[in-house]
Amino acid sequence: MLRQVPFLLVGWLALAPAMADTSADVIERGRYLVEIAGCNDCHSPGYAESNGQLPETAWLQGSPVGYSGPWGVSYAANLRLAVENMPLEAWQLRIEAGGLPPMPWPAMRAMSTEDRAAIYHYVKALGPAGDWAPAAQPPGEPIRTLHIPFVPQNQDTAVVKAGG
Ligand code: HEC
Repeated sequence: MLRQVPFLLVGWLALAPAMADTSADVIERGRYLVEIAGCNDCHSPGYAESNGQLPETAWLQGSPVGYSGPWGVSYAANLRLAVENMPLEAWQLRIEAGGLPPMPWPAMRAMSTEDRAAIYHYVKALGPAGDWAPAAQPPGEPIRTLHIPFVPQNQDTAVVKAGG
């Protein structure tokens, strides 16, 4: 293991200049990845409801509506505030560490570090906006906010209201 360290270091140093790249091309790639990977569906309230017509200035500000399930309640983070004081290395480690559903952590972990960096630089270029999402709640507590249950429901108990 120790003998691999110099190689890991060389690999990291080789990647570092590419990841520090904040050129217009990298930012545009980050925007493209955010759009095709569906980040806005959860992190940008109103995006899915407007069929993607939400102005870009309102993107990725997080949601006060939680997702409840066996994990408790999770909230799609305000990414624009999150990256403000988070160096790129911490962003990469945050993604490696993973967290609560329904955030597609495995999908983000499967992204190349360059793609993750491009998303980071794009979010940073958007600038800070909006409020922090609530902190996640552990299971077993009364739920303090609006929430979307991620638990299978009985097919005969629920009727979906038209337009609701
Ligand atoms: C299905 C909903 C959903 C989608 C789609 C989604 N997220 Fe998330 N995201 C969440 C939730 C919920 C959390 C909070 C998870 C937790 O507490 O561990 C989260 C948390 C995060 C965090 C951690 C922020 C922090 O400060 O700790 C990052 C980074 C993130 N998402 C990035 C993304 C990116 C980039 C995409 C698109 C590739 C994306 N997410 C797509 C729901 C989603």
